[in-house]
Amino acid sequence: MKIFIVALISVLLSSCFDSDAQAASKIQLGKTTFENNCVVCHGKAGQGIVKDWKKRQADGSFPAPPLNGSAHTWHHSPKLLLNTINNGGTPLGGWMPAFKDKLTDKEKQAVLDYLHSLWPKNIQQKYNARFK
Ligand code: HEC
Repeated sequence: MKIFIVALISVLLSSCFDSDAQAASKIQLGKTTFENNCVVCHGKAGQGIVKDWKKRQADGSFPAPPLNGSAHTWHHSPKLLLNTINNGGTPLGGWMPAFKDKLTDKEKQAVLDYLHSLWPKNIQQKYNARFK
């Protein structure tokens, strides 16, 4: 009986570690995808690359906003964010390039999971309550 319980506990624990490991590897894929495709405009860990992302640049366009929870990204549904990644900003008068054919569906979802992981806990909770 004792052995059975020990075995049961270790199975339960390992399944719990497994799902953590899977989530971590998804976020790792998202991080790599972000660093290869997005970091030039959105900055390290989505912090942005300008001091004030609401201020127009010399050419009249707006800079890429931070994606780390300090701007508006978390106000938008996963569907809308995916739409921005797929089609870029040009349909709405912006200049972000489209990634529809440049990333796989798995990479796009992983990037969204990575961005979510960068947000402060309270924002993650609000987001999950609203959209997940
Ligand atoms: C060449 C610069 C550039 C690159 C590269 C880029 N973006 Fe953007 N991104 C922008 C700009 C600029 C905006 C604001 C809308 C616009 O002007 O198109 C934006 C907006 C966004 C938004 C909407 C933000 C919000 O608050 O709703 C998301 C999400 C986003 N980008 C994700 C990404 C991801 C993910 C990648 C990489 C796969 C990426 N961007 C690559 C420039 C870029």
